[in-house]
Amino acid sequence: MPIPKVRSTTRRVPPPTGTRNRPAAGGTYARTEPIRPRRIRNRTFTTARPIGRLRPADHPTAHRSGTHRRHERPRHRHRCGDVAVIAADLVGPSGHVLAVDRSPEALGGARRRLGHRQEIEFAEADLTTLDLDRQFDAIVGRAVLMHVSSPVEVLERLSRHLRPGGLMVMHEFDLTQQWTSVSTPLWDRVRTLILQTFESIGIHNTLGRDLFAAFRSAGLPDPHLTLGAPVGGGAEAPSFGWVNVLAGLLPYLEQQGIVTADEIGIDSLTQRLTDELDAEDATLLGPLMYGAYCTVG
Ligand SMILES: C[S@@+](CC[C@H](N)C(=O)[O-])C[C@H]1O[C@@H](n2cnc3c(N)ncnc32)[C@H](O)[C@@H]1O
Repeated sequence: MPIPKVRSTTRRVPPPTGTRNRPAAGGTYARTEPIRPRRIRNRTFTTARPIGRLRPADHPTAHRSGTHRRHERPRHRHRCGDVAVIAADLVGPSGHVLAVDRSPEALGGARRRLGHRQEIEFAEADLTTLDLDRQFDAIVGRAVLMHVSSPVEVLERLSRHLRPGGLMVMHEFDLTQQWTSVSTPLWDRVRTLILQTFESIGIHNTLGRDLFAAFRSAGLPDPHLTLGAPVGGGAEAPSFGWVNVLAGLLPYLEQQGIVTADEIGIDSLTQRLTDELDAEDATLLGPLMYGAYCTVG
């Protein structure tokens, strides 16, 4: 089934007046086992952006507990090329990173920011049909497989581009966990809007927890797994991240006649959601980011 294109919005949710952006510091991005970058020698193929040293600020709903005060804007959100930069730092100046994305807009932004990084090559390509005549030491992707109709087929296809001993690394979300420790009306509405919309446009909401099975189905060795998520309560509740996800879906929601920015009150939504949590002394969990990695024989 073709996935309708949802253009990511350029709309930014402004922090309420009287708040200031602060530099990021600290964080609670948990990883149960570190991915060993030493396996990556000199050629890395990144599916848009990847790898082991992914930091919370790279999280698409970037919000580290203890990092941003409520209402504050994360330093950055999705930026095509972020994972490529991490990979490029790992392989070093004599290495090579091929950064792939099917979106010309995403690649254009990355090329403008990273044009000076000689070791990174950008390619506009669809992973579902990608066929290269080269092999790589590592293939890394983040929040990409969730967009394709058959993640297993893409994993199979990608694994053909790994040299023996090469490393396959995928990071994907599970969005379906209970977000708040106490159920509240506005949070329930936002959660339902986001999950139902993703489901209706063909995004795999549970791929993170399904990565293990996907690796097996693709004929890959059992992957090691990692898990991380923003979490917090009160002033540290990562509400902003979820609001940004919703803001990104608004053009589609408006086009479908489901809800408008004004109806949902997008500009004050972070504040109202945080207040609702506060009133219940509740904890908020951001998207669960699973990592899965293995080496091929
Ligand atoms: C949620 S963003 C994740 C971006 C980045 N990996 C990150 O972690 O911040 C998903 C990206 O995957 C790209 N994408 C989705 N399906 C794709 C496909 N079949 N082939 C190549 N790129 C794809 C989109 O264009 C988009 O830039």
